[in-house]
Amino acid sequence: MHKGFTLWFTGLSGAGKSTLSNMIADELRRRGVRVEILDGDEVRTNLSKGLGFSKEDRDTNIKRIGYVCKLLSRNGVAAISAAISPYREVRDFNRAEIGNFIEVYVECSIEALTNRDVKGLYKKALAGEIKNFTGISDPYEAPLNAEITVNSGKQTKEESLAVIMGYLEKEGWIPKPGVKESSTSACRA
Ligand code: ADX
Repeated sequence: MHKGFTLWFTGLSGAGKSTLSNMIADELRRRGVRVEILDGDEVRTNLSKGLGFSKEDRDTNIKRIGYVCKLLSRNGVAAISAAISPYREVRDFNRAEIGNFIEVYVECSIEALTNRDVKGLYKKALAGEIKNFTGISDPYEAPLNAEITVNSGKQTKEESLAVIMGYLEKEGWIPKPGVKESSTSACRA
């Protein structure tokens, strides 16, 4: 069985965590790797339904996602988390709990996010209509030692994808293209 791992995205709302997660998941599945995505917005409609955006609720949300990632990744699945996860301490808690943990920082300036504003949330947050909005009126603690950093304001999504895939291949987490999952050479002991 292929060795599971958790690919833990972190970054501001709209930075591209979900988009990149979906692109990676497609690519991994093509290579025979089993994948599950825990997307921030989706988790909040089921696993974390009822939680808000206080520090306490965000920490609870992130620990729940971390717990599911742990169960999945210890069973050979590539678990991908795509929640903001703004607090360093709880990300590091998950890192310690999960073990096979790869942190991906999706960097993007507030200026670029505000210009893009896919969901219209930055406009509202800047107008004071959404309280405690990450990066505007609530903290975001960027990782200090992420395994991978990409910048969605400066790179195309294909370039970011290539950086992430390159890392996973180089570190032996995933088979190289054309190599089937069953090949022992592609598995990490
Ligand atoms: S986290 O802080 O607990 O990791 P999560 O990723 O689940 O956040 O949810 C973030 C999403 O919730 C954002 O992409 C946005 O669509 C929405 N959202 C609503 N209110 C807020 C807020 N105050 N801060 C950040 N995101 C918010």
